[in-house]
Amino acid sequence: MKLKEGDMVLLFSADGTSFLTVISRKKLSTHLGELNLEDALEKSYGDFIETHKGEKLFLIKPPVGEFIRRLKRQTQIIFPKEAGYILMYLDIFPGAKVIECGTGSGSLTTVLAHFVGENGKVFSYERREEFASLAEENLKKWGIRERVEIKLKDIEDGFEEEGVDAVFLDLPNPWDYLKQVKKALLPGRHLGAICPTFNQLEKLVESLKKEGFIWIRAMELLKRDIRPSPGKIRPEDNMIAHTGFLVFATLINEK
Ligand SMILES: C[S@@+](CC[C@H](N)C(=O)[O-])C[C@H]1O[C@@H](n2cnc3c(N)ncnc32)[C@H](O)[C@@H]1O
Repeated sequence: MKLKEGDMVLLFSADGTSFLTVISRKKLSTHLGELNLEDALEKSYGDFIETHKGEKLFLIKPPVGEFIRRLKRQTQIIFPKEAGYILMYLDIFPGAKVIECGTGSGSLTTVLAHFVGENGKVFSYERREEFASLAEENLKKWGIRERVEIKLKDIEDGFEEEGVDAVFLDLPNPWDYLKQVKKALLPGRHLGAICPTFNQLEKLVESLKKEGFIWIRAMELLKRDIRPSPGKIRPEDNMIAHTGFLVFATLINEK
């Protein structure tokens, strides 16, 4: 399929650097020289374009994980390594209805909306307007704005939906909203949360037990990148040591 104006591309050079951009009639200045983005029109993903110095940049279809890793942000965000696991253990499927709070910069919102597909819906709660607007901007860039209802509300007052397939909480005090979650989530399905500290993790786990959730799991996911240089393959020098602890729990019928 030919690329057109507005398509997002990851421009990837032989030296391993890359730029995430949108195809337009503009020019892009890079350390490899100036690039006419309109040269990408009528090309396909997998082709290349050249800077004025003759340096090649390959046109790659960006994975959603790379989009969120580079997301414009004003809050802490959910990163790809946690987002992937969240999708698995909240059991997100095409057509699913999912609640999350808070929206923040919209990183997890983008991933959830990407995977619930055209027939699914993400109900994303955020109490601060400036973050809701940024998330909206990010969702529009990824082209899935219509799959998300952003609700400018404090979840202290509860969720407006019932019978949803999954709930995810990314806010400082998730234990305070478990009653609201129980009203919204389908029994037999799962709640997920992320806590940056052990103290928060402990409080959440205790509250989940008190509220009758079962199958409570907590974990930290560590990712170690390997430098793929033939003949000298070894781990990268630096790694991100801590993002947050993930917690999952399952709701059951109380009677
Ligand atoms: C760490 S950020 C969420 C980041 C988001 N998951 C992402 O991936 O971009 C936490 C957000 O929760 C919002 N928040 C905190 N408590 C809230 C509440 N009671 N109701 C609604 N939003 C809340 C904050 O305003 C903040 O934007």
